[in-house]
Parts: sequence; C-alpha cells; structure tokens
Amino acid sequence: MGPGDLSTVLAPLPRQMDARLLVGSETFDDAGVFRLSDDLALVQTVDFFAPIVDDPYAFGQIAAANALSDVYAMGGEPLTALCIAAFPTGRLPLSVLTEILRGAQDKVREAGAVVAGGHTVVDDEPKFGLAVTGRADPRRLLTNAAAAPGDVLVLTKPIGSGILSTAAKQGKLDEETTRVMIDTMSRLNAAASRAALAAGARCGTDITGFGLLGHLSHIARASNVTIRVSRARVPLLPRAREFAEAGITTGGAERNEEYLEQRVDWGACSDVDRALLVDPQTSGGLLVALPRTAVPEYLSRVEGATEIGSADPRSSFDILIS
Ligand code: CO
Ligand code: CO
Repeated sequence: MGPGDLSTVLAPLPRQMDARLLVGSETFDDAGVFRLSDDLALVQTVDFFAPIVDDPYAFGQIAAANALSDVYAMGGEPLTALCIAAFPTGRLPLSVLTEILRGAQDKVREAGAVVAGGHTVVDDEPKFGLAVTGRADPRRLLTNAAAAPGDVLVLTKPIGSGILSTAAKQGKLDEETTRVMIDTMSRLNAAASRAALAAGARCGTDITGFGLLGHLSHIARASNVTIRVSRARVPLLPRAREFAEAGITTGGAERNEEYLEQRVDWGACSDVDRALLVDPQTSGGLLVALPRTAVPEYLSRVEGATEIGSADPRSSFDILIS
C-alpha cells in the first residue's frame, strides 16, 4: 500500500504502550525492536510480494535479501527466517516453488541465518516473502529518528529497480541489464549495516517501496530535520533514466508522488528526475546518516556507497531537491 493509505489505516488504532517495545510502527521504521535485556533486543520484520523477475531462484534470492535488509536497516544481525508463500498449485509446477525456496534458503544462509519453517496458501497469483528475526544491541540501533543537522546522507545501491522490473515485464529489458538489476537486488546490506555501526551512525533505513524520497521523508519527520538531496549525485541503475524518459512507471510511484507532493520542495526537478526519485525499490540499498568525518572511511568500506545529500535544521519541507 502507499504511505498515505497506510497512515489512514493505522491512525485510528490505539498506540501500543509497552516499555519493552523500543521501535514500533509510529516512525515508519524498518522493523520492530523489542528489548530483552539492557544489551539485547529482538528485531522483527516481514515482507512479501508478487514475482518481479521470471527466474524463480532469483526471485527467492531477491525476496530473502529484501526481507533480511530490514534487520540490517535497524543495525541488527539476522538469526532466523520463516517463509510465506502463496502459490497456484494447479497452474504452475510445484518445482517452481521449490526453486523460489532454494533461492531464499541460499540467501538466508549467506546472511549467517537459518530458515526455521514457513507457511503456504493456494492462491491465483504467486507471492513470496519472509518474516525475519534478528538480534541487535538496543544501545546501537539504526532508526529513522536519529538524523542530526550536519549529517551526510549516503546511499549504498543505485535506484531504478521498479522502472527496470516493469520494463522487464513488458519484455523490453536486455539480458545484461536484467543481470545487473538482479545482482543489485540480490546483494545483502550486511556490510553496509556493519560499517554504519562501526562509523558510529545511529540513523539509517533501507530504500524500498516508498522510493528514495518516501523513505527520506520518514527520516526527516522522525528526526525533525529537512533533508537536502542533490539529484545529480543519486546513483541510477543502467537504462533506468532511459525507461523513465519513455514513460515506464508503476502504480507505487504514483502513490509515492502523491504522498510527497506537498512535503518536497522540488526545485528545478524535471518530471523524469521526479519519476526516478519516487520509484519504488525492491531490496534497495541502505541510506545512512553519517557525521562528515566518518564519510571517507564509510565510502571506502562499502561497495557502491555514494554521498547524495545532507540533513539541515528543520524548515517547512521534509526534503529540498537541488
Ligand atoms: Co525497510
Ligand atoms: Co519492509
């Protein structure tokens, strides 16, 4: 669902008051965090969606990397995963689901975690994802609410996977770009998360369905800062701009843009740049807020990490595009 509808759904619910719940749903954070002791917290998250690539093994890998990412985005280490699958048993061979699960299991193992079980339902359209449980030090979390004026924002993967996967569904994506897209979405955010903690970062999220600007808006509000984004610095997947120029888009992008319309000072941002900046990502990179002095070390340790903006004292907008 889009961020606007989701806020409407959640708003009437009573706020959960429990001192052990360190991070709940109020700040649109990546995962819930539950304190077990002074130095140990559970990190819990769930994510599932319809296939975004044809290859079932690759889909399983991407779904797992995406679900695990929300634990990394909180500064945690994943421990266990439960698989959730909806599958049209009469229409597709069961071996397709085996391959999805094999991809997921391999990726979970790469993360040092273990698949502990799962649940299946029969449904017309396949959907797959995982609920992941991890551990974190409650004194060293990466949340949306800890960006400070002066922090530099670093993004660890290029954006544009929503546009590219739509192009792929329309049969317009070449093999090489498809490979780059799958490799990027399958890559774990483990190193990006550990380097962020090592750099003393306390604010981070992963870029997924709300797009780069949607997630930045949640950081801006939760941290009470205004975020400045330099659009020329935002790394893009190959051909993402070309397909954006050709008008390839998603329903998610439309919902994200509507939500962001009044929250962003768009400056001289072109329609194509807008489309890229609100493009919903699957298994996107980490977005980390770092003190300026920690940036060079972080960029050298994390493959693909790029400085894209900074946090300013709060003004009337969540985000300023320059
Ligand atoms: Co997330
Ligand atoms: Co999520």
